[in-house]
Amino acid sequence: MSARPHSRALVGALTIVLCAACTGGAGAREADGGTHGARPGSAGVGDALFPKLGNGGYDVTGYRLDLDYTPDSNRLKGTARITARATSALSSFHLDLAGLHVRRTTVNGRAAEAERRGTELVLTPAGTLPKGRTFTTTVVYDGRPKTITDPDGSKEGWIQTDDGAVGLGEPTGSMAWFPGNNHPSDKAAYDITVTVPKGLTAVSNGELKRRENRGGRTAFHWHNGEPMASYLATVAVGDFDVHTTTTNGELPQYVAVDPDEAEGSTRVPDQVTEVTEWESRTFGRYPFSSTGAIVDHLPDLEYALETQTKPYFADAPDEQLLVHELAHQWFGNSVTPRAWKDMWLNEGFATYAEWLWEEDHDGRTADRIFRDFYDGTDDESGGIWDFPPADPPSAAKISDAPVYGRGAMVLHKLRQAVGDKAFFTILRTWVKEHRHANADTRQFIALSERISGKDLGKLFDVWLYGKGKPNKP
Ligand code: TRP
Ligand code: ZN
Repeated sequence: MSARPHSRALVGALTIVLCAACTGGAGAREADGGTHGARPGSAGVGDALFPKLGNGGYDVTGYRLDLDYTPDSNRLKGTARITARATSALSSFHLDLAGLHVRRTTVNGRAAEAERRGTELVLTPAGTLPKGRTFTTTVVYDGRPKTITDPDGSKEGWIQTDDGAVGLGEPTGSMAWFPGNNHPSDKAAYDITVTVPKGLTAVSNGELKRRENRGGRTAFHWHNGEPMASYLATVAVGDFDVHTTTTNGELPQYVAVDPDEAEGSTRVPDQVTEVTEWESRTFGRYPFSSTGAIVDHLPDLEYALETQTKPYFADAPDEQLLVHELAHQWFGNSVTPRAWKDMWLNEGFATYAEWLWEEDHDGRTADRIFRDFYDGTDDESGGIWDFPPADPPSAAKISDAPVYGRGAMVLHKLRQAVGDKAFFTILRTWVKEHRHANADTRQFIALSERISGKDLGKLFDVWLYGKGKPNKP
């Protein structure tokens, strides 16, 4: 089963106006010389499918988000404190932000000029930022955050539920609730504090460090210490039953369940433990400081998301979906694609994790599932030959069937070619060598050839890059 069976289309066009005015600081020279030739940072990181996502000229190391949310009015008040390192001398730089009102911006504690251009927020500090220098920037903002509706009807960004709301960010939606460098190639630590009316719970990534009551409201302080891509950040506000425990591997586990889904979710806490442990044995040590899940009640959403340390489920998940989303903690969250076209490194791998789970739990063998996909008898096999998994033709197609099902088939072909021992060594080495970093398809192919000692060019040409259905399974 793919977690995202229907096709998706591109999120609303991101408009960008190139900036002629923001060369102001260029040439300003300071004593240390590091600002010589300071230029505006670019409005995108050059992602082939999402050219305007992310921003050039800096690398974020940490986000501190202080959010205050009131479900009744759907009002969000936020302060984002972003620590970053300039990767080139900057006269100005961009953050991504969709909607909301920006009230105040600073860079290194001094007021900075802010300009909105579509989903770009352009900040011009009082002085230029030398290359290599760490700086902090603060954005104070508020408003009713947007839900981004994709042409196929899927929603992301900020979505209201019957008792609160949720922030979801794949592939673009994080900018609906906080400003930042909204591209998977810039991972950072996050400290997210959410203040909500008393009685409600705010759940986010990482571990709950503190919970304080302040005059009729409760603040939840969440700490996510390991690097995280912005699309994996989440906040879920609502009425939740919280189940905490530790896995046998001594990992803290936090499962939040909306009472409306309690009946269908009684096994979820035990399943999260069991799946986290099985996947740790299969793929190598769990990459984060905690595991868990958020089971919300938002049945119209029609997808789940592998939000870091706590996958988000819009209703009670079945075991297969838990296996899929938790597998992403290794494939996607710890090892993150450098660009969106490499999405099969997420979805093909998480889908293959489902096949491995089924094989290991008295279901079909992975080989049987592969053949059911090849001959089209598996329910999830529709559309898998539409395009090569490593080459989605447009941003609208990054979550289509070839990326999931045929992506998993590529891994099965690899396993057949190199044998089980080399295959599992490849998977475990992949997560070890690129732990908490970014990687791409070329690196996966190189690793597979290095470990197996085989020339796998033909296999990947046919199964990963070839158009249409390969002749022989
Ligand atoms: N990553 C999600 C999953 O596999 C599915 C998903 C949700 C998705 N939103 C997306 C995939 C946007 C691509 C783009 O469970
Ligand atoms: Zn997935």
